[in-house]
Amino acid sequence: MNNLARLRLHDLAPEQQDFRAAVLEGLARPHKSLPCKFFYDAAGSALFDEICELPEYYPTRTEVDILRRAAAQIAELAGYGGVLIEYGSGSSIKTRLLLDALAPAVYMPIDISREHMLAACHTLSRDYPQLHLMAVCADYTRPLRLPRVDRGGQRKLAFFPGSSIGNFTPLEALRFLKNIAQALAPGDGLVVGVDRKKDPAILQAAYDDAAGVTAAFNLNLLARCNRELGADFDLTGFAHKAFYNAAAGRVEMHMESLRAQTVHVAGQAFSFALGETIHTENSHKYDLSEFQHLATQAGFRLLKTWSDDANLFSVVSLQRS
Ligand code: AVI
Repeated sequence: MNNLARLRLHDLAPEQQDFRAAVLEGLARPHKSLPCKFFYDAAGSALFDEICELPEYYPTRTEVDILRRAAAQIAELAGYGGVLIEYGSGSSIKTRLLLDALAPAVYMPIDISREHMLAACHTLSRDYPQLHLMAVCADYTRPLRLPRVDRGGQRKLAFFPGSSIGNFTPLEALRFLKNIAQALAPGDGLVVGVDRKKDPAILQAAYDDAAGVTAAFNLNLLARCNRELGADFDLTGFAHKAFYNAAAGRVEMHMESLRAQTVHVAGQAFSFALGETIHTENSHKYDLSEFQHLATQAGFRLLKTWSDDANLFSVVSLQRS
C-alpha cells in the first residue's frame, strides 16, 4: 500500500464566511475581540512553530521533556495499538513520542489548518509505514462528530498537548472535555498538557519575547483580515500587548491601537480610540487541583500526572469514567 492510500482526509473545515462573521461580530463589541482560533492560517501556523522554539516560550520544550519521560507509562496506561486522536495537531511533532511508544494502528489528527496538517501527515506516513492516518480538518472548538474508526473496538487515546486547553475559558474547557468524553468509551484515555500557575515574570517573557515573534503572530491576525476580507488595517498603527491577569489566572494578548483611527472591514467602519485594544487571546494557567476538578466534572478520572522539576508544566493522564 502506498503512502497516500493510508491517508484519508475528512474535510469539515469552517467556511470563509465564519471568519468574516466572527471578525465583524468581534469588532462590533464594546470591548473588541477576535477568536484566537483564527491565528492559524498558513502564516500564523508557521509563526506559531517559531514561537515554540523561542528561549522564553518554555511550554513546548518542557512538555516534550515530560512526554519523553512519560511516554512508556502513558502507553502502559492507555494500552498499545488502538487509535490515537490528537486535537489541534499542528505539526504533529510531540505526536511522534506517543506514536513510538503506543504503536497505534490509526492516528487521527484534527486541525483547522488543512495544508499544515496534511504536510505533517505526509511526513508521518513516510516515517510510520504501518500507520493509517485519518486526518480531520475541523474547528475542534465546536462540538464535533468524529468519523467512525472501524478497528474492532480497539481502545482510543485522545491527546490534547501544548496547553491549548488554556485557550478556552474554564467553562468552555469543561464543555470541550465533555465533548471529548462523548467521543470516547468508558476506559478510553485522554492525555492533556496543562500550563501551571507561576511567577508572572516568566509568563510575561513567554508571551512577549525579545525577538518579537509573538508580536508578529498576533499582528498576523490583522494582516489576515487584510488578505482575506479586504480590510485596511494599518499594521504600523497597532502594537502587540501581553500581560498576566492574576484575578482571572490567565495571560491576555491584545492588539493596541497606537492612535485614534478608523478601519474598514467588508464595507463596515470600525473606529478605535488611542489605546483601545482588540482582545485576541486568553491563555489560562491552572493549579493541578483546579484542572483535576475540571476533568472530574467532565467525566474523567485521574490516572497519573507528570511535571518538570520547576512545576512549570504538567502532562495529565485521564481515563473516561
Ligand atoms: C496554542 N496555545 C497553547 C498557545 C498558548 O501558549 O496559549 C498560543 C500562543 N499564544 C502566544 N504564544 C503562544
